[in-house]
Amino acid sequence: MKIKNICCIGAGYVGGPTMAVIAEKCPGVKVTVVDINEKRIKQWNDPDVEKIPIYEPGLSSIVKETRDKNLFFSTDVDKAIDEADMIFISVNTPTKTYGIGKGMAADLKYIELCARQIAAVAKNDKIVIEKSTLPVRTAAALKNILDNTGNGVKYQILSNPEFLAEGTAVEDLKSPDRVLIGGDIESEEGREAMEALVNIYASWVPKEKILTTNVWSSELSKLTANAFLAQRVSSINAISELCEKTGADVNEVAKAVGMDSRVGPKFLKASVGFGGSCFQKDILNLVYIARTYNLQEVADYWEQVIIMNDHQKRRFAANMVQTMYNTVAGKKIAILGWAFKKDTNDTRESAAIYVADYLLNEQAEIVVYDPKVTEEQIYSDLDYLGSRSGDANRKGVTVVKSSYEACDNAHAIAVLTEWDEFKQLDWKKIYDQMLKPAFLFDGRRLLEPKTKKEIGFEFYAIGN
Ligand code: NAD
Ligand code: UGA
Repeated sequence: MKIKNICCIGAGYVGGPTMAVIAEKCPGVKVTVVDINEKRIKQWNDPDVEKIPIYEPGLSSIVKETRDKNLFFSTDVDKAIDEADMIFISVNTPTKTYGIGKGMAADLKYIELCARQIAAVAKNDKIVIEKSTLPVRTAAALKNILDNTGNGVKYQILSNPEFLAEGTAVEDLKSPDRVLIGGDIESEEGREAMEALVNIYASWVPKEKILTTNVWSSELSKLTANAFLAQRVSSINAISELCEKTGADVNEVAKAVGMDSRVGPKFLKASVGFGGSCFQKDILNLVYIARTYNLQEVADYWEQVIIMNDHQKRRFAANMVQTMYNTVAGKKIAILGWAFKKDTNDTRESAAIYVADYLLNEQAEIVVYDPKVTEEQIYSDLDYLGSRSGDANRKGVTVVKSSYEACDNAHAIAVLTEWDEFKQLDWKKIYDQMLKPAFLFDGRRLLEPKTKKEIGFEFYAIGN
C-alpha cells in the first residue's frame, strides 16, 4: 500500500515537528496538519517562519522548505480526514481534572472526539495511528468507536508512540534511537497497515531501528519509557539531598555511577525537579492503570517517583526561604529561566511555576527572565495554578527582558532552567548590582560553585 496523503490531527509540540520531518523526508507525500485552535494554525502559517508557535532548534528552516509544497497547516479537519489514507492522532491527553480518575488518569475526551469525527467523515478505508501517549488498551476503544459509528469503512489502528524530547525534537526525529509501531500482527490487513507506516519511516530511518510489536506492547512501552527516564531523575534527586547532608557532590556521584556501562551516564543530572507535559502525566496514568488492576505494590512503586519530584521542588524553595533568614517577604527574587528545560518555550509543569508559587505565598517579589517564554505565558501558568487571583499574580511578578534587568537590586537569584546563556553572564557585574549578602541558588547545577563563591555570592547548588 503506497501512502500519498497523510493527515495529522493536533498541531502541537509533537504533531508540528513530526509532520514537518515526515514532509521533508517524504517529498512525494502530502502532509496536512490540522487543529481546532485557529490561533495556532495561523501562527504555523505565519509568513515569517520565526513566528511559528513552537520553538525548536532547526524546526523553522524545515517548515520554510516544506510549507505549502507538501506540508500544510489548516483548521479544516473534515477535509484533511476525508483526503487522507493515513491519519495520525496527536492531540493532547492531559491528566483528568474531574470525575473518576481525577488527578491520575489520562483524559481521553480529545482522542474520542477525533475518533468520532473520523468516523463521521471517512468515506474510504483509513489507517488510524495513535501518536498521542495513551493508556494501554486505548486502541480497542478507538476501534470500537470507529467500527460502530462509522460509514461501514474499514479501519486499521496502529500505535506509534513518539519518543522525541523537546529542545532536541528535530534531531530526535531525524535520528531516532528507535521507531515503535504496534499493530494487529495476527491479520493480513494489520500487517499491511504496519508495513505502510514502516515504509514512511524507512525513507530515513534504518530498518533495524524500526520495531514492530503488538498494539498493547507498543502502548505500554511508551508509558514505561517515560517512567524509567523520570525514575532516573528522581533517583539522582533523592541522592542530591543526601549529598547536601554528607559533603558528597551529586555531580561526582552521578559521574562515578554513570560510568558503569550497565547504568549509563544519561538522565542523571540532579535538578530542581523534572517538568514537562509528560513525565508526571504518564506516570500518574501508569499508577492509575496499575490500581485499576488492583496492583497496589506496582502502583505505589511508581508513584514514589512523583512524590520525590514534588518533594525536590518544595525542598528547593523552602531552602531558599530558610537560607535568607527565614523570610523573603518584600524581598526581590530574580528567577532565571521559566521553561521546563532549555531550548524550548514550553512551560508545562515547569519547576519554576511551583518555586515561584511557593515564594509568592511567602510574599516575595518575583522578577522573571526567560529567553523564550512570553510574559503572557508566565502569568497564565500562575493563574492556572489558582493559588491567588490574577491581579495578585501580576502584582507579585514582573517579567523582564534580560538577566541583568532581573537581577538588578535583587536579594537573591534562582536559576531554574539550564539555558546556555546563563553560563555566559558576567556574574561579577550581576553581583555588583545586587543587595548584599547576594544569594544565588542554582537549581540546575549550571554554574561553577567555586568561582561563584569567590565572587562573593552566598551560593547554593543542588546536591552540593
Ligand atoms: P499539544 O497540547 O502541544 O498539542 C495538541 C494539539 O491538539 C493542540 O493544539 C489542540 O488544540 C489540538 N486538538 C485537541 N483536540 C483536537 C481535535 N479534536 N481536533 C483537532 N485538534 C485538536 O500537545 P503535545 O505536546 O503535542 O502532545 C500531544 C500528545 O503527544 C500527548 O499525548 C503527549 O503525551 C504526547 N507526547 C508529547 C511529547 C512532547 O514532547 N510534548 C513527546 C512525546 C509524546
Ligand atoms: C521526555 C522524554 O525524554 C521523551 O523521550 C518523551 O518523548 C517525552 O518526554 C514525552 O513523552 O513527552 P521531554 O519531557 O520533552 O521528553 O524532555 P526531557 O529531556 O526528558 O526532560 C524532562 C524533564 O526532566 C526536564 O524538566 C529536564 O530538565 C529534567 N531532567 C532531565 C533532569 O532534571 N535531569 C536529567 O538528567 C534529565
